[in-house]
Amino acid sequence: MKPQVLVCRRIFPETLERLREHFAVEANDADVVWSRDELIARLQGKSGAFLTGTQPIDATLLDACPDLRAVCSMAVGYNNIDVPACTARGVLVSNAPDVLTETTADFGFALMMATARRIAESEHFLRRGEWTKWSVDLFAGADVHGATLGILGMGRIGRAIARRGARGFAMPVVYHNRSRLDPAVEAELGARWLTKEELLATADHLVIVVPYSAESHHLVGEAELKRMKPTATLTNIARGGIVDDRALAAALRAGTIAAAGLDVFEGEPAVHPDLLTVANVVLTPHIASASLPTRRAMAELAADNLIAALDTRPGAALPPTALNPEVLGRRRL
Ligand code: DGY
Repeated sequence: MKPQVLVCRRIFPETLERLREHFAVEANDADVVWSRDELIARLQGKSGAFLTGTQPIDATLLDACPDLRAVCSMAVGYNNIDVPACTARGVLVSNAPDVLTETTADFGFALMMATARRIAESEHFLRRGEWTKWSVDLFAGADVHGATLGILGMGRIGRAIARRGARGFAMPVVYHNRSRLDPAVEAELGARWLTKEELLATADHLVIVVPYSAESHHLVGEAELKRMKPTATLTNIARGGIVDDRALAAALRAGTIAAAGLDVFEGEPAVHPDLLTVANVVLTPHIASASLPTRRAMAELAADNLIAALDTRPGAALPPTALNPEVLGRRRL
């Protein structure tokens, strides 16, 4: 009998077909966001779960779903999964790195440019029929080329953004990361490490790409925004909760910084109401990785992981991007 798996949200039909070759699949074609209780109920008897990035997997859920052997997510961020709790229970976890790096960096750069050049704000003005004449400073924003690009969190996506800025737009790049990059990588990117405080004060355009964790919760709040230049922009494509949205809305209104671009929000899909009434912020619904080829690649990678994770044959291939592959070592002994 094929193992049973749950696909937690609607995915591409070709990925579903592939999963059906290996598993008895319960899909979610209606794309319903299941409550935690419903998720637990649907996971009964399932060996695997195909996650799309938001389903919370913690110790309580795992204890309520004793058949679960693998949770494979098509997102790179995995702050929704308690990996140590999974490892302790022999549940393999995988995420989907690399396949979305360049697409997400493209979007981060685009959002930063839209923010600096006031593209959304000016488009809304035009659509409202308010464009009646040319003016010398009509929606005059900040330059991107040659300005200092600040990157908070220099992982794969941060580095891809740094390359775009340094090579395409002649931007000096400064960054802060817990661990400094290798000097050869710094030289290749033309990037200079700064303390977080120095970074905030130096960047003309700050892009946030740090993973979410208890340590990065409200990493940028009122005090940090006050350290930034009044002409600076802030772009967040990482996770909601890293920026204090209420403090950011207040800072945008007060002119503490010039503008912001946000693709992620604390408590999304809800958006802090203060942000909705501020003009100098560009808001997008968590779509940084959403090009069709990339979303397909993310889904395929999650499927690769799930298929390999539940393959119990001796010598079976390892899931390509497992976060706790040691679990399989124990299981396949
Ligand atoms: C991720 O993969 O973590 C992105 O936020 C897209 O969901």
